[in-house]
Amino acid sequence: MSERSSAVEQVRAGLPLLVDGFAAWRDAARALLAHDIPPQDVTWGSPHTGGDLLTSAPPPAAAGDNGVTPSPSPPSLPQQQRPLRPAPHIPRAFMEMLQSAACCRVPDRWAFLYRVIWRWQQCEHDVQSPADEDGARLNAMVKAVRREEHDMHAYIRFRERPEQAGPPRFVAWYEPRHDVLPQVARHFVARMGKVSWMIATPEASVLWDGQTLHDAGPIVKGPEELDDSGEALWLTYYRSVFNPARLNADIMHQHIASDRWKNLPEAKIVPQMVKDASRGARKVGQYEAVGQRKGTTIPIAPADAQPERQQPSSLDECRRCELWEFATQAVPGEGPKKAKIMFVGEQPGDQEDLAGQPFVGPAGKLLDSVCAQAGVDRDTIYVTNAVKHFKWEPRGKRRLHKTPVQREIEACHYWLDKELASVKPTVIVALGATALKSVLRTANVTLKNHLGKPMRHEGHWVVTTYHPSYVLRVPSEDAKREAFKVMVDSLKLAHELLERPPEEGEQGDLGV
Ligand code: URA
Repeated sequence: MSERSSAVEQVRAGLPLLVDGFAAWRDAARALLAHDIPPQDVTWGSPHTGGDLLTSAPPPAAAGDNGVTPSPSPPSLPQQQRPLRPAPHIPRAFMEMLQSAACCRVPDRWAFLYRVIWRWQQCEHDVQSPADEDGARLNAMVKAVRREEHDMHAYIRFRERPEQAGPPRFVAWYEPRHDVLPQVARHFVARMGKVSWMIATPEASVLWDGQTLHDAGPIVKGPEELDDSGEALWLTYYRSVFNPARLNADIMHQHIASDRWKNLPEAKIVPQMVKDASRGARKVGQYEAVGQRKGTTIPIAPADAQPERQQPSSLDECRRCELWEFATQAVPGEGPKKAKIMFVGEQPGDQEDLAGQPFVGPAGKLLDSVCAQAGVDRDTIYVTNAVKHFKWEPRGKRRLHKTPVQREIEACHYWLDKELASVKPTVIVALGATALKSVLRTANVTLKNHLGKPMRHEGHWVVTTYHPSYVLRVPSEDAKREAFKVMVDSLKLAHELLERPPEEGEQGDLGV
């Protein structure tokens, strides 16, 4: 028996319809509409609650829009023999509204939505308008759900678990007011790349293993069951984005409802930071902002700008330039220890900074497509950056990428050299100008002059290509296609070079 007919048969048998989500409700509603079953004849409920069995109040007997009066059901035929009504055409935007409202935790949601769609089928198209009584409620439900999605994006806090504990790497606890976990999970899939994470709520949990999203029930009872070892990482991040010069403590408290604060780890440090800000950090912040304004530039040799210091023993401790201070963490290279091809990018972006892995954000996804198109498995390539800390400037709540200067690129040679010495790649693919400057150890090179031309440098082949962000940024579709093709061809070339010995007379070491 199909789900559709079983919904109709259940109703005819006087049984309640238990639906566990929008898709099940939609299928049942379609079947009921086709059989002309009015809302007051259906009792809806949810299998989780068992109870909450609700029937819609009969829809108001009003004329529809444009004066169209609902057509009464033909009285003469017994229900079983009536012809089926064609499925109503539901515009996409209206269906999205219904889907959004279905996430709103009101006890009669399924009964209410059926009444709305029933009225739509009766040509009462005002039912979606805020001026209509049901329409006003529908719109309010949609608004509450969107607000909750927004809050969950903003207030969820991931904590890192010890590596030996295995995946997921990050975990978060949240108590949503509405059923927004699936769409919020999709948001974080797009934002966090391949790193694994779990979001737990009192009703359900989702787990992202880097490739697939898994649904689970209420497997965690509360935040105390989640390992909070990631809290220190989060607090470092929060301190780094906290700008005392822009602090308005009242607005900050107004914007975050008090019941949100209890699960925010930064709640522990905010009072002290607010106090510091009012005591003088705000002034310092302002001086710093003034100090960052452009003034006369005094040229200085990189060596003089970086006095000799003890070498850091690990990337995490690196203080070779000042970028560490504003980044969440250093992002090391990643890939097979003896990879034959090494990609060198510029510096980690926002997502890489949070995940601690190179090229996991949008540029990384483009790189994946380039590899797929060139027929090269990305997992065989060692992927790293010229600069290991994220350099950024604040723009509202966002952190915008800022190109590293030569001094910062040179400070980070130390780490790239270590990677080159250990991986010993046959071919280095320099992604963009910063990578090229870093690989060739000179600021006097341009991307244009080297694009797609292989050269030998310090025992490696070097192939220069565009940075994936350029392909994402370039406005015209034609230019995008062309740049993507250049990247694919460069990677194919890199692959061919694995088999080619250095030839005499081939464009040699730059000698600059
Ligand atoms: N851009 C880069 O250059 N590197 C990354 O890791 C991400 C974006």
